[in-house]
Parts: sequence; structure tokens; C-alpha cells
Amino acid sequence: MSEAYWDDQAATYDRTTAFLEPRLLAPARRWIADRVSGRTLEVGVGTGANLPYYADRVTELTLTDLSPEMLRVASARAAAVGVPVRLLQGDSAHLDLPDDSFDTVVSTLALCCVDDELAVLRELARVLRPGGLLLMADHVESSARLGRGVQSVLERVTPARAGEHYRRRPLLLLEPAGLELVESAASRWRLVEQLSAKLVGS
Ligand SMILES: C[S@@+](CC[C@H](N)C(=O)[O-])C[C@H]1O[C@@H](n2cnc3c(N)ncnc32)[C@H](O)[C@@H]1O
Repeated sequence: MSEAYWDDQAATYDRTTAFLEPRLLAPARRWIADRVSGRTLEVGVGTGANLPYYADRVTELTLTDLSPEMLRVASARAAAVGVPVRLLQGDSAHLDLPDDSFDTVVSTLALCCVDDELAVLRELARVLRPGGLLLMADHVESSARLGRGVQSVLERVTPARAGEHYRRRPLLLLEPAGLELVESAASRWRLVEQLSAKLVGS
């Protein structure tokens, strides 16, 4: 979806996700935070919901998002948790950042809403240093039949209306992006899946 769409969501995003946050999202955020270290990039940072979980684990932090309004909220949250950040507005598929420049790259709930998820994964792999970790969490195609049924219905409307895809599974795209899985975990019924990955052979 467009920058303008996400700008409009910025003021209400945390209220919209408040029900799911403690039930489904916080466990994934904690899993990711436990693995963050060093020079860190978070893409599609939104309102910065991950920052309170990992702020004390980073040495340098760069936050990017398509939406200037989302970045503004994330920047205020970073200030509230006391972590200095560099902000970069732009598309995750075309980051104005050098190759091999981060120890950790974080992306949560940020692949479900991009046009080309493989292009984004390749870009994240480009900026990750050999031996560094890509940490991701997304709502993905459920392992439960009922979950998949609901997701199929949602998929008929949400991609066009909100840019939201419910049946993606980034874990299956690691290999064509030049990445290999290190670890993964998931919620009940695999509604949310988190993973860590590194550059192949690194
Ligand atoms: C569903 S929100 C997730 C926010 C946050 N990562 C979280 O875990 O709560 C998706 C975010 O991705 C951003 N976004 C959407 N498309 C993008 C793109 N192509 N490049 C960068 N950011 C994008 C939106 O502006 C929004 O802030």
C-alpha cells in the first residue's frame, strides 16, 4: 500500500493491534529481542513496538519505514526508551544503505504488506553482514485448517483494501534470497511464525 495509507494508520495502529499484542505478538517480539545484538537495522518499523523489547541490546540502531508518520511515532518511542536512532524513510526493497553493514536486521509484520516479498528479503540479505542474523516475525499461512479457511476469506479483500496478505510464509523464500534458516518457532496454529536466518555459508 501507499505511503499515504500507512501515514493514515500511524495514529491508530497501536490501538488497532492492542488486542493481539499481548496474546499473539508479544511472544514473537520477545523471541526476536533475545537474539538482537550489535549494529541493528529494523525495516517497516511502524510505531516501534519492538523497541522496548530490544533497545538495551543494540550498539547502533537504524529504523526505516515507507511512512514518515510511522517513523515519527517510532522516533518518539525510541526517545521514551532512551535509545538513539538513525531514521531512514523509504521502501524496504530499495534501502539506501551499504552492503554487509548490519549485525542484525529485524522485520516484524512487515513482509505481509509489501508488493514483492522476495525483493525485500534479497535487500535485507544485501545489507546483512556475513555471520549476522536476520530476525523476522510475520502472520503466515496457518497450520490449522480452520485458520487457513479464515485466511482465505480475508485474502479475498485485504490485499486490495489494506495491502495485507495472510497466506504468505517468508520461511519458504529464504533460499532464493541467499539465506539459510538458523531457528524458527511459531504460535499455536502457526498464526505467527518467527525465524532467524543468516547468509548461506556464513
Ligand atoms: C503492519 S505494520 C508493522 C509495524 C511493525 N513492524 C510492527 O511489528 O508492529 C507494517 C509497516 O510496514 C510499513 N511498510 C509497508 N510497506 C512498506 C515498504 N514497501 N517499505 C517499507 N515499509 C513499509 C508500513 O508503513 C508499516 O509501518
